[in-house]
Amino acid sequence: MMIFKTIDWVNNKVRLIDQTQLPGRSHYLDIDNVDDMAEAICSLRVRGAPAIGIAAALGVVLAADQSIQENMELFLENVRNAMDVLGRTRPTAVNLFWALNRMEKVLDRIENLKPADIRERLLQEALEILNEDRRICYQLGAFGAELIPDPAHILTHCNAGGLATSEYGTALAVIYQAAEQGKKVEVFADETRPLLQGARLTSWELQTNHIDVTVLCDSAAAYLMQQGEIDCVIVGADRIAANGDVANKVGTYMLAVLAEKHQIPFYVAAPVSSFDLSVISGGEIPIEQRDRSEVATYMGKMTVPESVKVYNPAFDVTPNSLVKAIITEKGILRPPFHVSITNILQKNK
Ligand code: MRU
Repeated sequence: MMIFKTIDWVNNKVRLIDQTQLPGRSHYLDIDNVDDMAEAICSLRVRGAPAIGIAAALGVVLAADQSIQENMELFLENVRNAMDVLGRTRPTAVNLFWALNRMEKVLDRIENLKPADIRERLLQEALEILNEDRRICYQLGAFGAELIPDPAHILTHCNAGGLATSEYGTALAVIYQAAEQGKKVEVFADETRPLLQGARLTSWELQTNHIDVTVLCDSAAAYLMQQGEIDCVIVGADRIAANGDVANKVGTYMLAVLAEKHQIPFYVAAPVSSFDLSVISGGEIPIEQRDRSEVATYMGKMTVPESVKVYNPAFDVTPNSLVKAIITEKGILRPPFHVSITNILQKNK
């Protein structure tokens, strides 16, 4: 179904679609060094929790390539420094740290290997993360599709689609699968201020995949729900705490409150790698604050007076009490989430 590739390993480089250029241009970047990869993550050329994890894992391979001629000590030092650089790019999506942790574990098992062999193992692990993500998104979509009525009017926020993963997505995977099962689905995509992931990315990828989509300003969601136009809300997640509190793109919490007010089911779709059991509740999740210019300028023009302060958190936290179910590749989790999350994670150790 997907006719574009979000991120891939091609000719020893990382090829990714530059999401800052969409929907105007489908421009692919070939990245061959870790600094450019860190820049691509920070500036949202590649974005979305699972895709950030894949990008960071492949970024570690680039760092290994850059130092492959060095002696063992310097090689390992450079690879570890690269992991630190990548780990400082974006703080909220736990998939970044989850993927870097997997890469780090490869370094724990290197015995007497040479840099070239270690690089091979790092590449294998990064490609495994990429390929696993593909399988996970399809499985998650299949579980989630059961929750979608026919016909369905679905509201989503930001982009939790193929562009946010290796392909297919999380929240949008559920929608793609429901459509493939023959259900009539109509999607409403919040534009998602300030960086417009909904308007620029979600609508582009849904249209590309022939799904009916309408874009609305974030502030129109309440009225849309009040009019009885929405059957369910589905969003992705950047990090889910042990108690089921969900960090996702800023504005998600607002939708969850509105959904409860209008008795509309609010679903979260995320892979198991987005759960962080070291975080007991959402208040402990670090929330990225981004540059004032994202809010204070629009299409190169100043929209806020220069000396006025700007509040620009990239994410917010939705309390678990507002979440009807969490859709994962292992099945659908229901409240009480502190129990269902622990069960599913233990079962699959
Ligand atoms: O700042 P972004 O664009 O990386 O934020 C992305 C989101 O908030 C997504 O909803 C989330 O990462 C889930 S992606 C499957």
